[in-house]
Parts: sequence; structure tokens; C-alpha cells
Amino acid sequence: MRIVLIGDIHAYRLLVMPWQLIGKRLIGQANLWLNRRHRFDHSLVDRVVEHASSFNPDLILLSGDLTTTALTGEFDDIAQQLAPVTSRFPTVIVPGNHDRYTFASKRQRTMEARLPSIVPDGWPYFRQIAERWYLLALDSAVPRIFNSRGRVGREQLRCARKLISYLTERDGLIVLCHYPLKSPPRALPLTWDHKLGDSRRLRKMLTRCPARIVYMHGHIHSPWCWQPKRSDQSHFTYINAGSPSMTSRKYPQGQGFWQIDLPEDPIGHLKVVHHLPNINGQHAHANAVSAWSQHNIL
Ligand SMILES: [Fe+2]
Ligand SMILES: [Fe+2]
Repeated sequence: MRIVLIGDIHAYRLLVMPWQLIGKRLIGQANLWLNRRHRFDHSLVDRVVEHASSFNPDLILLSGDLTTTALTGEFDDIAQQLAPVTSRFPTVIVPGNHDRYTFASKRQRTMEARLPSIVPDGWPYFRQIAERWYLLALDSAVPRIFNSRGRVGREQLRCARKLISYLTERDGLIVLCHYPLKSPPRALPLTWDHKLGDSRRLRKMLTRCPARIVYMHGHIHSPWCWQPKRSDQSHFTYINAGSPSMTSRKYPQGQGFWQIDLPEDPIGHLKVVHHLPNINGQHAHANAVSAWSQHNIL
């Protein structure tokens, strides 16, 4: 079974109606004009969508932060941009903190309303995706005025615990959640804002689960894949999707996307490939060989 994982796209609109600039969105739009718009290039998402389709995935997962300030227009833009994949392949999306940017966007379930059928309408979302593999998708995004700390919440954790309670060491569990649980040993430690308020509870729940865990997330705009050496988490693989639209010196064409091939038997070899657009790729048109490089991580 093949999964494609796509991270923080952060669609935005520079011009919004004055009545939409209430509360935190005013700060978000100011940051967009002064800062973000210079770093995020959304034309890169079209290349990701096109290239990801060529791998014929069985499932597309998006780890949240599709928008910048959870405007309905931003969700509509992203729905259109993702349509070439979402219309062809089963897709599941979890919200990021930017998709629940305002209290109204959470209350009115704007994301669910604008992206029906690809954003689950209840949390936690759980389903079997292959004979021995399961997907657990969590809503960890909470609107906050002064910070962006996430939280899964007791009720969602209680339901999730029940849903995964019958999994055994012969099973595999994909967890899709916007926030990371841990950063790799050589990366900067997660800041207070980067964390889930109840990450310890979630980690404990997953550590106790005997199934092989592949934890996929976004939020930190720096792609990575790693497996902890700690004995109680030796059955974990963490994959950070990164941001396909954010440009930087290290990633001038954005941070690409991930291909994850699940072995039929979850204890088998998990193939993880990071696809990165090459700098000359923007002029290479349909020539995928020179437009992309692929890095076999596992
Ligand atoms: Fe985020
Ligand atoms: Fe983000």
C-alpha cells in the first residue's frame, strides 16, 4: 500500500474584506504582508500535486495547515489546487492550528464545510486501510489568541485509546496529527508553541500500543524521518511532512512530499522516500527525471 504525505501548504489571500480582519486574523494578515508572502510560493504546490499523482498512491494524507488564517477563500483555493489528487485518490486531511485560526473557524467547522469528504466530520477518525494497517487521524488544533500550542483533549484520547485497544504486534498503525510528538536527536528541541499540551498522554497511549506506529505530522517546517532508539519506542517511526510551498536557502523549491510504502506484514520493511523538487525543475516542464530528486530515507 502506497501513501503520499503532504505537509503545511499555508494558502493565503493578500486582500480580504475589512470585516474579516477581526481578532487574531488581523495579526495573521499583517504577518502575511510583512513576512510570509516572501517565503511561501504556492505555484510549487501544483508541481507537488502533479508529481505525487504519478506514483498512483492508494491514499493521500495531508497533515494540516492548508491555510494561513482559515478564511473560506483560502480553503476554496486549496480545494481547487488539490482537486487533481483529491478527485482521483482517497484523501484524509487533519486540521493544523492555522486551519482553526479563529474561534469562529473552529465553532463553524469552516474546514469541514469547505473540504467535505476529505476532512473527517468526527474526531478521532479511525479506519482500516489495509489488511493489517489502520489509520488514526486526530484533531489537535485549538484556536488561541497568544500562542499556537495544540491539544488533542481527554475525550478524543479516550475514544482513540478504545479504538486501538485491540491492535496487536502483528498490526500497523498510521497516526496522522498536525503536531509533532518529538524532534529527532540532532534537531532543535520542540518549543512550548510547537508542542501538544497533552503530548505526554498521547505518547504514553501510543507507547503502550503493541502495533507498529508510523506517526506522521507537520507544523515544523523542516522535513524529517527518524526512528527512536529508546526501547519503549523502538516500534515508532516519525515522519515530519515539512512544507511543500515554503522556500529557503536549503529548500529553494520547497520541501517536497513523502512517499511511504507500507509492507503487507507490518513487521516488514517500511519504505520511506522524500521527493524534493530540483532547482532547475521549474524550467523542466514535464521532465520529471530532471525536475525531481528522490531520497530513500528508510
Ligand atoms: Fe502549524
Ligand atoms: Fe505550518
